[in-house]
Amino acid sequence: MSAQNPYLEAEAPKPPARRYRVTFLPEGRTFEVDPGQLPYGRVGHPGSLLDVSNGAGETGIDHACGGMCACSTCHVIVREGLSSCNEMTEPEADMLDNAPGVTSHSRLACQTVPDGSCDVVIDVPDWNRNFVREEGN
Ligand code: FES
Repeated sequence: MSAQNPYLEAEAPKPPARRYRVTFLPEGRTFEVDPGQLPYGRVGHPGSLLDVSNGAGETGIDHACGGMCACSTCHVIVREGLSSCNEMTEPEADMLDNAPGVTSHSRLACQTVPDGSCDVVIDVPDWNRNFVREEGN
């Protein structure tokens, strides 16, 4: 599955070139991202927070559209490290408008790719948490 909506022309953001850590709240679980292992799965841009969540396993970020920027179920709040993430595109901003509880630090996990320049802390809103563990995607 493509990591990008084929109807959108935006270029995929550049994946990180160095190791960094992502902490998933509220559990507080931390995962070290290894650029050499990307992509971890088949949803979201390679190296996106959604892709990293697949590598980390059991973080529960929902992704109803499969990481194509066509829903808002992967909404996360970036508590730390937002400045290391790619700029939000207009399609992402438009889709994010559909998410509940949006803050100035909200992003769509499938579209947000940190560059690895610092560690990142994200909060997965409880209304968005998927408690079903998916294998192999
Ligand atoms: Fe649908 Fe991210 S998974 S917009």
